[in-house]
Amino acid sequence: MPGNKYFSTQKKWWKEAVVYQIYPRSFKDSNDDGIGDLRGIISRLDYLQNLGINVIWLNPVFSSPNDDMGYDVSDYRNIMKEMGTINDFEELLEGLHQRGIKLIADLVLNHTSDEHEWFVQSKSSRTNPYRNFYHWWPAEKGTPPKRFSVFHEEGAWIYNETTDSYFLHYFSRKQPDLNWENPLVRKEMYDMMKFWLDKGVDGFRLDAFTFISKDLSFPPIPEKYQNDYFSYYASGPGLHDYIKEMTAEVFSRYDIMTVGEASGITHEQALLFTGTDRKEIQSLYHFDHANWGRNKNNLYYPDATNRKLTDLKKIFTKWNTAFENDGWGAVYLTTHDQGRMISRFGNDTSYRNESSKLLFTFLLSMRGTPYIYQGDEIGMCNIRFEKIGDYRDLHTINYYNHLAATGGDLKSFIDAQKETARDNSRTPFQWNPDTNAGFTGGNPWIKVNPDYNRINAETAETDPDSILHFARKIIALRKSLPVLVYGDYKLIEEDSETLFVFTRQFENEKVLVILNFSDHRNTFTIPAGFILMKELINNYPVKTVPVNNQIILQPWQAIVFKYNIQ
Ligand code: NOJ
Repeated sequence: MPGNKYFSTQKKWWKEAVVYQIYPRSFKDSNDDGIGDLRGIISRLDYLQNLGINVIWLNPVFSSPNDDMGYDVSDYRNIMKEMGTINDFEELLEGLHQRGIKLIADLVLNHTSDEHEWFVQSKSSRTNPYRNFYHWWPAEKGTPPKRFSVFHEEGAWIYNETTDSYFLHYFSRKQPDLNWENPLVRKEMYDMMKFWLDKGVDGFRLDAFTFISKDLSFPPIPEKYQNDYFSYYASGPGLHDYIKEMTAEVFSRYDIMTVGEASGITHEQALLFTGTDRKEIQSLYHFDHANWGRNKNNLYYPDATNRKLTDLKKIFTKWNTAFENDGWGAVYLTTHDQGRMISRFGNDTSYRNESSKLLFTFLLSMRGTPYIYQGDEIGMCNIRFEKIGDYRDLHTINYYNHLAATGGDLKSFIDAQKETARDNSRTPFQWNPDTNAGFTGGNPWIKVNPDYNRINAETAETDPDSILHFARKIIALRKSLPVLVYGDYKLIEEDSETLFVFTRQFENEKVLVILNFSDHRNTFTIPAGFILMKELINNYPVKTVPVNNQIILQPWQAIVFKYNIQ
């Protein structure tokens, strides 16, 4: 029965999952070349198991020249040489499965690397059989229609002399867009997906999937969309057909988890992808809160005025409504594409411990599958590089070069990147207080955050009050309480700029989540009729005793209660 309450409480393993995202390049290096690898992950399987997570989302590990750190794939059926071999991958998968952990791979659908054999062939002549694997604009048709690129200010078309044509790249110039209109492209992609599923992979995160179909008439872009890649460049006329075909050909034949990276879609569109009757994908994650705290006209820059808790609550509440009866969402606070969770939503100086725990409480008690980003469980912070030379991400470097070439303000850009750069979350995992935080015995590909003496997994392990221990506790709580997965969600304290309070309810179970998103003490008034039963978790050591129906909350205090209604 689609579109009704039935699906929202229907049991599925991927709804019950607690996902942990591994950015393999920065997780653990096993051979001292400075780059994290598959054997590094294998050496940390027990750590992952002890955390209690049960699904890994692994960022791309396929062969790649790494212009965009693995999102430029040159061979989908092979492992990037720095990361290891297919055998290592199989061993990793087996080790995870033995520990009851599933693995979802990152599928880069919209583009390949320009070093992929398909593109090498495609650009070699206009009559090559792979010519139509990509989008070409013959020079005799004149200048190609204006299109932006996410990573290059000069636009999305690049001239190719050999064939006197331009190819399209919505992302980096080394990431030509695949032509999904071509059935041969789709068949190749489906076969590749089966290749990994037959190896035992448990699902996919679909990278930038809304871009695979575009309006190939390339109409002029109306003024209001000039900078809006997502709604104008993506979601072309063939999108739903391709996803349906992908599901029929591949996904429906396996018991897997699929989650789409859905930048730019509205919550009204969400069910068109995830509704049970649609037969497309199971879940998706939106980007609305990724832009919270940023300058709306230029996402490279932060904007403190766009940082209201009421807005954040609206975003999560709106997205919960989207999936209230059908479909399913993902809950995350950061990924490898944004700064560190604690540096964005918490206080990474005076309340690092408390606010990290609060954010974990939020992630694990909200409705939707929770995604934890590596290192957040030990409270890793933004690195805030001072020099452009320390950055490795083309997103930062290209924009810096653009500013340098056009006389822009470089200093304010570097300051802005301390908050918004993707490299903030890509620095090596801090394992211990030894050299390079125990990440590598070599020269790390990107600098290790100098705070590693203080912030690292080994130290966290020995401190009973650490974020790590709390993370384990709240993950275990999530897994033990169906209400936290299947319960409905209701926001209370809508207008407060410091309190995020909500209830979850499933059958007879009722849970109240109280989060004080502030550096100050705060008072929460227990709603009329609520009888607090049991304190399930609290990030402060003292048990809460309400006085006159009020709870005094400490800075960044997070408490979850079982409650009843009078
Ligand atoms: C989204 C990925 O998360 C990001 O890291 C990448 O740069 C783009 N897609 C392009 O593949």
